[in-house]
Amino acid sequence: MAAQTWIWTSLTVVVTVILTVVNANSEGDALFTLRKSLSDPDNVLQSWDPTLVNPCTWFHITCNQDNRVTRVDLGNSNLSGHLVPELGRLEHLQYLELYKNNIQGIIPPELGNLKSLVSLDLYNNNISGTIPPSLGKLNSLVFLRLNDNRLTGPIPRDLANVSSLKVVDVSSNDLCGTIPTNGPFEHIPLNK
Ligand SMILES: *[C@@H]1O[C@H](CO)[C@@H](O)[C@H](O)[C@H]1NC(C)=O
Ligand SMILES: *[C@@H]1O[C@H](CO)[C@@H](O)[C@H](O)[C@H]1NC(C)=O
Ligand SMILES: *[C@@H]1O[C@H](CO)[C@@H](O)[C@H](O)[C@H]1NC(C)=O
Repeated sequence: MAAQTWIWTSLTVVVTVILTVVNANSEGDALFTLRKSLSDPDNVLQSWDPTLVNPCTWFHITCNQDNRVTRVDLGNSNLSGHLVPELGRLEHLQYLELYKNNIQGIIPPELGNLKSLVSLDLYNNNISGTIPPSLGKLNSLVFLRLNDNRLTGPIPRDLANVSSLKVVDVSSNDLCGTIPTNGPFEHIPLNK
């Protein structure tokens, strides 16, 4: 009986450790998927080693005390390629800074899952497609700068749900339709 209890306890510990490691690595895996999708002629992503236990020691990544990613700082880094849906898994991410690169493709709708996001800075890239309505779920968002890309379509009404928004710049794109005037847009001087 005692032996059986001991075995079960050991098994539980082992499973817990495995789950912790797997969970810690899932943010690293998401970021490594981004690395693989980008072209990086200046090797700014060289330190992004997926075999490390978490991405917290990688350059341009900041984590909180629980080793969860809070910042991705890759503005002005000469990157091209595409964003990846896996970015939506970084649930503690507050700052996604990818401005002034040459990133193309769409804004993944999964970015709407980044419930801690304060700042989404994708300005000065070559991003196309529409602004995903899912960004209306970003309840902590303050800065939304998507200017100087090749975005088309309307500004989603859903963005008016984000009461924390203070700065929105969507200028120098090919957007159409009307600008929301309700919610935070009553106070935001919008560049379209
Ligand atoms: C960006 O990368 C290209 C190669 O793709 C290189 O020719 C250019 O010098 C780089 N620019 C900067 C500012 O590092
Ligand atoms: C922008 O992306 C398009 C493809 O979507 C490509 O044809 C074009 O060359 C890119 N522009 C620049 C400046 O890289
Ligand atoms: C924004 O609010 C409207 C009205 O309450 C709701 O129908 C819509 O689903 C919300 N959008 C998002 C992305 O949460």
